[in-house]
Amino acid sequence: MTKKIAVLPGDGIGTEIVEQAVKVLKALGEDFEYEYADVGGVAYANHGHPLPPETLALAKEADAVLFGAVGDFKYDTLPRALRPEQAILGLRKNLNLFANLRPAVCYPELVSASTLRPEVVSGLDLVIVRELTGDVYFGTPRGRREAPDGPFKGAEEGFDTMRYSRPEVERIAHVGFRTAMQRRKHLTCVDKSNVLETSQLWREVVTEVSKQYPEVKLDYLYVDNAAMQLVRAPTELDVVLTGNLFGDILSDEAAMLTGSIGMLASASLNEKGTGLFEPSHGSAPDIAGKNIANPIATVESAAMMIRYAFHMDEQADRIEAAIRKVLSDGIRTGDIWSEGCEKVSCSGMGDAIRAALR
Ligand code: IPM
Ligand code: MN
Repeated sequence: MTKKIAVLPGDGIGTEIVEQAVKVLKALGEDFEYEYADVGGVAYANHGHPLPPETLALAKEADAVLFGAVGDFKYDTLPRALRPEQAILGLRKNLNLFANLRPAVCYPELVSASTLRPEVVSGLDLVIVRELTGDVYFGTPRGRREAPDGPFKGAEEGFDTMRYSRPEVERIAHVGFRTAMQRRKHLTCVDKSNVLETSQLWREVVTEVSKQYPEVKLDYLYVDNAAMQLVRAPTELDVVLTGNLFGDILSDEAAMLTGSIGMLASASLNEKGTGLFEPSHGSAPDIAGKNIANPIATVESAAMMIRYAFHMDEQADRIEAAIRKVLSDGIRTGDIWSEGCEKVSCSGMGDAIRAALR
């Protein structure tokens, strides 16, 4: 049966990188249908809203969403509700994409591209399971007001609310443990339970859920320590289970271990296991339109899409093998280039991956 893919390239380098992923997908020879729509700043410019109703409707009816990136300096002065980031937050909430998987793998060929010493990142293979629809990102009440109490009573203040409910933690914990079962069976729960109520509940629930997965080794880190362990000994980690805000921060840190943020893919899944697939990096407006961006994270996100949403493991493996082949052939975009390698453009990398498909 035809699979319909909503293609939302967005802003900045989004267009260039998504084009490479579509190029590779098309070369698989599968029955995929692609429908494009505006999202982010470009959608605001064309339709007056970063997530126009037509785009949301398309995302909802499609079998999966392939997403580029949103954001540009141009839109930094817009009110928050109209900023490009609202598009991705709106999609997460409206499609109920509560589970975000962000794998960080250091390919042997890129060990020297990391800012960390080779012996620290060599063999790195972890996945961050980030809760994506709760926490201080979406918690209410939030807003601006006069401080009702405290030493700054009466002064203007901004406030947000960190919230997690038991079922919300349970469902993401199950995703974490199931992910661990398919990997090295080690899950690290990351929270701030020495300070926060939400984290205390989080840790309690994760501990309870762990009883259903006796084979998985469970340990715990406070988020500050986790930030340190990620650069001290990242190969000791397998699955990192954490909330929305902590996961946001730790996943950027994990990305750098892999050599370049241009390498990190992600899947944002709902209860049905379908969802939205996007590189973990942003729209990089400073290099947009120059055809120099690294499209690997987006191509890898497309592989995750067909693996998770379409259950086409064999085709996903083909894409991943092609990425590895290209890297071992010494083909590199500028961000991961080193002496002795061949430097290619964004579209050159897409062509190379397509050519390496078996
Ligand atoms: C990410 C991004 C988003 C987030 C922004 C663009 C809202 O940083 O996907 O990690 O904070 O979740
Ligand atoms: Mn982020």
